[in-house]
Parts: sequence; C-alpha cells; structure tokens
Amino acid sequence: MEYSHTKLVSFLLLFLILFLSSGAEARRQPNFRPTKLFVFGDSYVDTGNTMKVDSSAWKDPYGESFPGQPAGRFSDGRVLTDYIAKYLGVKSPVPYQLRESKPEHVKYGMNFAFGGTGVFNTSSQYPNMTIQIDFFEQLIKNNVYTKTDLTPSVALVSVAGNDYSYYLLTNGSAEGFPSFLASVVNQTKINLIRIYELGVKKIIVDGLQPLGCLPEVTLTSSFQQCNSTFNALVGIHNSLLNEAVAQLNQQAKDNSTFIVLDLYDSFMSVLNHTSSTSGHKLKPCCVGLSSEFSCGFVDDDNVKQYDVCDVPKSSFFWDLVHPTQAGWHAVYNKLRKTTALKQLY
Ligand SMILES: *[C@@H]1O[C@H](CO)[C@@H](O)[C@H](O)[C@H]1NC(C)=O
Ligand SMILES: *[C@@H]1O[C@H](CO)[C@@H](O)[C@H](O)[C@H]1NC(C)=O
Ligand SMILES: *[C@@H]1O[C@H](CO)[C@@H](O)[C@H](O)[C@H]1NC(C)=O
Ligand SMILES: *[C@@H]1O[C@H](CO)[C@@H](O)[C@H](O)[C@H]1NC(C)=O
Ligand SMILES: *[C@@H]1O[C@H](CO)[C@@H](O)[C@H](O)[C@H]1NC(C)=O
Ligand SMILES: *[C@@H]1O[C@H](CO)[C@@H](O)[C@H](O)[C@H]1NC(C)=O
Ligand SMILES: *[C@@H]1O[C@H](CO)[C@@H](O)[C@H](O)[C@H]1NC(C)=O
Repeated sequence: MEYSHTKLVSFLLLFLILFLSSGAEARRQPNFRPTKLFVFGDSYVDTGNTMKVDSSAWKDPYGESFPGQPAGRFSDGRVLTDYIAKYLGVKSPVPYQLRESKPEHVKYGMNFAFGGTGVFNTSSQYPNMTIQIDFFEQLIKNNVYTKTDLTPSVALVSVAGNDYSYYLLTNGSAEGFPSFLASVVNQTKINLIRIYELGVKKIIVDGLQPLGCLPEVTLTSSFQQCNSTFNALVGIHNSLLNEAVAQLNQQAKDNSTFIVLDLYDSFMSVLNHTSSTSGHKLKPCCVGLSSEFSCGFVDDDNVKQYDVCDVPKSSFFWDLVHPTQAGWHAVYNKLRKTTALKQLY
C-alpha cells in the first residue's frame, strides 16, 4: 500500500512536471538560448565599422564616456547594439572590419552595420544593407558560420532614416515621398527575408525614431520643439513596417520570430520625462560652433570647432542625430518593459 501510494504520488508529480513544462515550452521555448548576435544597418547600431580617416565616430569627443576614447561608436559611449547584446547575455559582436584583429570574438556573432548607410544607396560610400548581408552570406559560404551556429542566433536590423535624409537632399519632392516610404519598407522586408533565409530565426528590426525631434531638425527652432510634419511621415513608415512584419510572422515557420522595436514610443516617452535644467531637452551635448561644423570637427590648426557639455549623461542627444549613452540606456529601459523583446524567449 505504502509503496503504491508513493508510486502514485510520483506519477502525479511527473505528470504535473511534464504538463507544466510542455505548456511552458509551447509558449516560451525555454531551450532558446542565444549565443550570437548579427547586426545590420547604420550608425544607431554600428560599433566600429567606419574608417578613422573619414568618420566622426573615431574623433574626440566620441567615446569619452565609454570606452574612454573614440572607438567608432556614434555616441559618447554605448549604443543600442551594446544594450541588446546585454539583454541577450552575449558579448557585443565584433565589427566586421575588425574581425581579423579579434578572431577569438567571431564566435559571438558580428556587426555589419556602417554609419551613414541605408537600405538603398545614400551619400555614404559605405556598403548599403544589401552589401552588408552579402558579407554575412560570404562568411557562411566560407564556413565561418554553419547552420548549427546560426540556429541560436539573433539579428538586429536598424533603418534609422539615412534613406530619407538622402531623398530630401537629392530629390525632396513631397509628391514622391509616400511611394519612397513604401519602397524603403519594401526593401527592408526583402532584407529581413534574406537574413531569415540565411538561417537566423530571431530577427529584431527597429521602428523609426521620431525624426522630427532630432537636433538636426529642431536646430532651426533652437531645439524648442519637435517637427510634427517629420513625425507624421515617421508614423507612416512605422505602420507600413508593422504591417510587413505582421505578414512575415504569419508566414513564419520553425520557431522564427520577427520583432519590431518601437523606437518612436521609447524615444518619445524618455524625452517626455526628461527634465532639463540647462536649456532644452532636445539640445544635444555636442554641437558645432556654427552650422558649417559638427561635433568632433577641428580646423587645420587643430582648434576645436565644437562645444561639448560637461555632463553627457544629463543630455538625451549626443550630437545632431544620435543619443548619448545615457539616452540609449533610458530607451533600452523602456524597450525592456514592452512585450517586444520577451517574444525572443
Ligand atoms: C547596394 O549597393 C550595391 C553596390 O554598390 C548596388 O549595386 C545595389 O543596387 C544597392 N542596393 C540597393 C537596394 O540599392
Ligand atoms: C550604389 O552605389 C554604387 C557605388 O557606390 C553604384 O555602383 C551602384 O550603381 C549604386 N546603385 C544604385 C541603385 O544607385
Ligand atoms: C524624385 O521625385 C519625382 C517626383 O517629383 C519622382 O518621379 C522620382 O521617382 C523621384 N526619384 C526618386 C529616386 O525617388
Ligand atoms: C516591393 O518589392 C517588390 C519585390 O521586389 C516589387 O515587385 C514591388 O514593386 C515593390 N513595391 C514598391 C512600392 O516598391
Ligand atoms: C517642419 O520642417 C519642414 C521642413 O523643414 C518645415 O517646412 C515645416 O514648417 C516644419 N514644421 C513645423 C511644424 O515646424
Ligand atoms: C522549436 O523550438 C523548440 C524549443 O526550442 C525545439 O525543440 C524545436 O525543435 C524547434 N522546432 C523547429 C522546427 O526548429
Ligand atoms: C509625449 O508628450 C506628448 C505631448 O505632451 C504626447 O502627445 C505624447 O503622447 C507623449 N508620448 C509618450 C510616448 O509619452
């Protein structure tokens, strides 16, 4: 009696454990443990691919908060990639251009993003996203990464608006804008599908941040307020992107997931709660002395042509386009509280 009673209890316990764990499995895939991060896009995620000769990211005062000197990030310190890597529990991946100097880091994934680029050609000479994905594909062909390597990996894709800046610079037609928006999102979707087909099953793509709040736009109003015209266009981009990603998720098989990170709401919500004692919260920490100069610019006599604030962490924006490390950290704290990143597990 005693014996079979114990047996029954064990049986019930076993049943309960199996039942609970299978339920959890269906919802959460507890076996998914990312080991690699692959990154594509622009300066919001680039951690060192641009070259020292032509990039502000390699000039003082970039990098002054982290790692303490310019290191190719477009900020005073860490950028979105570093925080997403932290969330996943992996090392921030080595920049593609530095892969040969840090071969031991290749196993954590790779960062193919180049500041200034878009899904289409921009004024940047650096590789657009198609070419960045070509680099990734070539490494797979060379067996640097195998299929098994790629299963537990995550991709982060940033399209932060360089295509639009370039359009405004070279075409600028308001009538043409709606169809250009559609083609940018369309091309983004093509890129996401390619990354998926190469074997990465968890793909995060950034929604567009409020471009109308960037210092390069608010400069003309002395950083007083966001430009609602630009932000309305961002709204169109983001709804098209959400639609495209919803379609991808409907078609997705084999545990694949496409996730949109809502940079619009997270930027807005941080900006709404930023109190600024020194001037305006939209004002960047580092600005050129006049409109010809930007953060990091020195003249032929090596005289600085920019002003940098004393305490970068009290500014949301670092330069005319990019958040400070503190800005990114605050955005990351918002993103962590949304359901988006939780879909990875
Ligand atoms: C990306 O760049 C390559 C080479 O510079 C070019 O051939 C290609 O058309 C570009 N892709 C897009 C989508 O613009
Ligand atoms: C993109 O730029 C490259 C040169 O950087 C050029 O060869 C290519 O034709 C361009 N592609 C498009 C679609 O403009
Ligand atoms: C530039 O704008 C015109 C409309 O004014 C449009 O027909 C053309 O396709 C646009 N070019 C690009 C590259 O978007
Ligand atoms: C979207 O991409 C597809 C496939 O490349 C193309 O046939 C279609 O014309 C594109 N649509 C727009 C609005 O660019
Ligand atoms: C937004 O920017 C555009 C282009 O610079 C300008 O024409 C428009 O007046 C601005 N709108 C607001 C509300 O500031
Ligand atoms: C989906 O994920 C689960 C848990 O990680 C795994 O056991 C299963 O093999 C995966 N299915 C496919 C088709 O990859
Ligand atoms: C930010 O504040 C504006 C104006 O007060 C409001 O319209 C908007 O909804 C707020 N956004 C967020 C994300 O809190």
